[in-house]
Amino acid sequence: MFGISDNTKKIEHSKIRKMFNKALEYENPISFTIGEPDFTASEEIVEAACKAIREGKSKYSENAGIMPLRKAVSDYLRKEINVEYSPKNEIVITTGAMGGIFQALKVLLNPGDEVIVNEPCWTNYIQQIQMCEGVPVSVCCDLDNGFSLDIEKIEAAVTDRTRAIIINSPCNPTGAVLDKEVLRKLADLAKKHDLLVISDEVYKHIIFDDVEFTSIASFEGMKERTLVMDSFSKTFAMTGFRVGYVAGPEFLISQITKLQENICACVAMPCQYAAVAALEGSRQHLDMMVNSYKERRDYVYNRIKEMPLVKYEKSKGTFYAFFSIKETGMSSEEFAIKLLEEKQVVVVPGDAFGEYGEGYVRLSYASSMESLEKGLDAMEDFLRKVAEQNGY
Ligand SMILES: Cc1ncc(COP(=O)(O)O)c(C=O)c1O
Repeated sequence: MFGISDNTKKIEHSKIRKMFNKALEYENPISFTIGEPDFTASEEIVEAACKAIREGKSKYSENAGIMPLRKAVSDYLRKEINVEYSPKNEIVITTGAMGGIFQALKVLLNPGDEVIVNEPCWTNYIQQIQMCEGVPVSVCCDLDNGFSLDIEKIEAAVTDRTRAIIINSPCNPTGAVLDKEVLRKLADLAKKHDLLVISDEVYKHIIFDDVEFTSIASFEGMKERTLVMDSFSKTFAMTGFRVGYVAGPEFLISQITKLQENICACVAMPCQYAAVAALEGSRQHLDMMVNSYKERRDYVYNRIKEMPLVKYEKSKGTFYAFFSIKETGMSSEEFAIKLLEEKQVVVVPGDAFGEYGEGYVRLSYASSMESLEKGLDAMEDFLRKVAEQNGY
C-alpha cells in the first residue's frame, strides 16, 4: 500500500496561492500579491551566469558552494554586519534562503521541539517547522507597537522544548525593521535560555529613510548562537536563480552542508558565479530598485492614509504595505474576496501570515505605478462604499 505521509498531509498550501487562483477567474485583475521584485537581475549578473555556462562551469560544486562565492559572502558580511565568518567552514551556499532555513530546522529539531515565530510572519516558517516535525509557537507582534517584537511575550512562550526563535527584519509582511534596543533584549533572552536565533535578513537592503539595519549576530556572544539567513533573491532581483546562504557556527554549518549533500548536492553552479558578480559588482542596480520601492511606498502610504476604515503604519522596509481593515467589520478573507469580486483588485488576506495576521491585508507595491494608481483608486471607492454602508 502506498499513500501520503501524515506529516505531508498536515502541510497546507499558502493562502497567497488561494487568492492567486481565485484571481484567475477574472479577466484583467490588478494583482498586488507578488512577493518578488518586479525587476530582473542586472546585465552584469546575467552575463556572469552565461559566461560560467560557456566556460563549462556547469558541474556539481562543493556541497557548501564554490569557494569564490563563500569568500565573497564572507567579505560582504564583514562589511555589512560587522561579523567575521570563515569561508572555509562557517558559510554554506543554499537554494535560496528557503533551502537554508529548511535545512537548518531539519538539523535542529527533534519531533516535538518548539520554535518561536513572531507573527504576522512569512508562513513558510510555520510549514517548514511542521515538515521537520517541530512545533511552531506563535507570538503576536502588534500594529500598536509598530509590529516590533514583544520580548515579554516571547519570554513567556519559552519552554524546555524551545530550541530557536525566528526573526525577520525587515519583515515580510509588516515592513517593520527591528531596532538595536529590541534586538539587544532578544539577544539577552537567547543567552539566558540558551536558545538559537534564526535571523532572516533577506530584505536587509530594502530599507527606507534613515532607518538602520542591525544584525543580531553582531552583538557580543551572539555569533555563536545565530544562524544568519540571507539570499540574492530580493537584494539583486535574482529570485529564480535560487541562491542564498547560511552563516553561523561551524558545528551547525557542517550539519546543514551534510543535509544539502543529500538534498540537492549544491546550488546550480552558473547561478553561484552570478552571485559572485552580484556581490563584487556595482550597487547601482540595487540603489535604483530601492529608490523606486521608496517612491512607491510613499505613494501607497499617502493614498491609504486618506482612506476610511484602514489603519496603516508606514513600512520601513521591504516592498509590502500591511494595513488593518478591522474597522470594516470584515475578516481578512472576506475583505480580500469582496475587493476582488467588486473591483478586481487582488490583495493577500493577513491570516495568510498566521493567526495574528487576521484583521489585516498585505499589498505588494512591487507593481507598476500605473497599476498602483488604478488599484488604489478602486480600493478607495470600495472602502468609501463600505464606510457609507456602515454608517460612517
Ligand atoms: C521573509 C522571507 N524569507 C525568505 C524568503 C525566501 O527567499 P529565497 O528562498 O528566494 O531566498 C522569502 C521569500 O519571499 C521571504 O519573504
